[in-house]
Amino acid sequence: MSRYPKPAEGSWTRHYPHLDTEPVSYEDSISPEWFDLEREAVFRRAWLKVGRVEQIPRTGSYFTKEIAVANTSIVVVRDGPDVRAFHNVCRHRGNKLVWTDFPKEETSGTARQFVCKYHGWRYGLDGACTFVQQEGEFFNLDKADYGLMPVHCDTFAGFIFVNLAPEPSQSLREFLGPLLLGVEDYPFGEMTDRYAFRVECRANWKVFSDAFLEFYHAPVVHVGQHPRALRAMITQAGYEAPYYQVEGPHAVVTTAGSLHRVWEMPAENVKPADLATRSGLFGPWDQSQLGELPPGINPGKINPWGLSSFQFFPNFAILIWEAGWYNTHQYWPTSPNTVVFEGDVYSLPAKSASERVGREMAAVSFKEYSLQDANTLEATQMGIEAGVIDRWPLNDQEVLVRHFHHGVQEWVGNYQRELARG
Ligand code: FES
Ligand SMILES: [Fe+2]
Repeated sequence: MSRYPKPAEGSWTRHYPHLDTEPVSYEDSISPEWFDLEREAVFRRAWLKVGRVEQIPRTGSYFTKEIAVANTSIVVVRDGPDVRAFHNVCRHRGNKLVWTDFPKEETSGTARQFVCKYHGWRYGLDGACTFVQQEGEFFNLDKADYGLMPVHCDTFAGFIFVNLAPEPSQSLREFLGPLLLGVEDYPFGEMTDRYAFRVECRANWKVFSDAFLEFYHAPVVHVGQHPRALRAMITQAGYEAPYYQVEGPHAVVTTAGSLHRVWEMPAENVKPADLATRSGLFGPWDQSQLGELPPGINPGKINPWGLSSFQFFPNFAILIWEAGWYNTHQYWPTSPNTVVFEGDVYSLPAKSASERVGREMAAVSFKEYSLQDANTLEATQMGIEAGVIDRWPLNDQEVLVRHFHHGVQEWVGNYQRELARG
């Protein structure tokens, strides 16, 4: 018996005609050949979020981003009002242009120009080659032909996206579509308190993402976060989301506020650390409210509303919480069965020490939950890789898992058809 109304077709899964209800294969999460297809079909074609504009506040502010799945590193730099991105490769003999002590590590800073550490070639913030060491020794070399290789770059709501295709088939806004454009007016730019962490996990990037596309696992994997007396009841009650929506390869799941209002619960039902800090996974309890939110934040008009988790295909998610804060997830594949997870927690700047403690509590709770997921997902990857089972059943609360793998398969299929056409 469902807790919330289902669509007229009887389930969220049947509501979306491109999905079926059959058990699914997870071959797409263990096959090295499939991973190579994803590199080309997904990661060299989709718009990928790489940062936020606050990371590059002034002309010359820059950061680098390692995109292992596309075998490249990029440098993102502010040049006046423009945000530009380039492949992080010197045009002379290929040295990585921008790095600090270790070439594999990301870096950031402020520069007037970029100088190659190998033979000293220089590049302006617009990517133009401005200086060649001993230029007279070269043969008919025109610096104008040796600028940095640009990467398509655009911003949405302060998030910086790049597209590694030579010519993207869609603009960023076309790619995002109305569902994701609906979050645009959320006050992301005011939420400058940021806590960040990253973890490498031995799981395929989709297996990792799957755990954030459903909350079916939450009353089991995360039940230890609740006082002991409540655990059996929480697991038994299970989890149901009141609203799912998919659009193109993207999606949103919304949860009901009744599950989130820790502050309304009897004190004995709340973890002592949460009580003491008036904070926890659902955010600081006393955080200043943001006023009326853009309607796109709660597209299912769920009341009371708790959380909307927007999935930006292929590897980014924004979770917007009732308590007036948001966090993001990003899943960067590093091999067929490893992923780097980046988690960021954002809120309005703290105005007092107790607010600061509340934000830190929210951030460490989020990290603790994420590590519980990561730990489980290494075990999941091992089970799938055992290769003894080739079909896995998904329920209606896992509709976005089904949709996500369908989306990746569709992009790979489109790529293969284009290759076949020549
Ligand atoms: S490789 Fe950069 S200057 Fe030679
Ligand atoms: Fe989880």
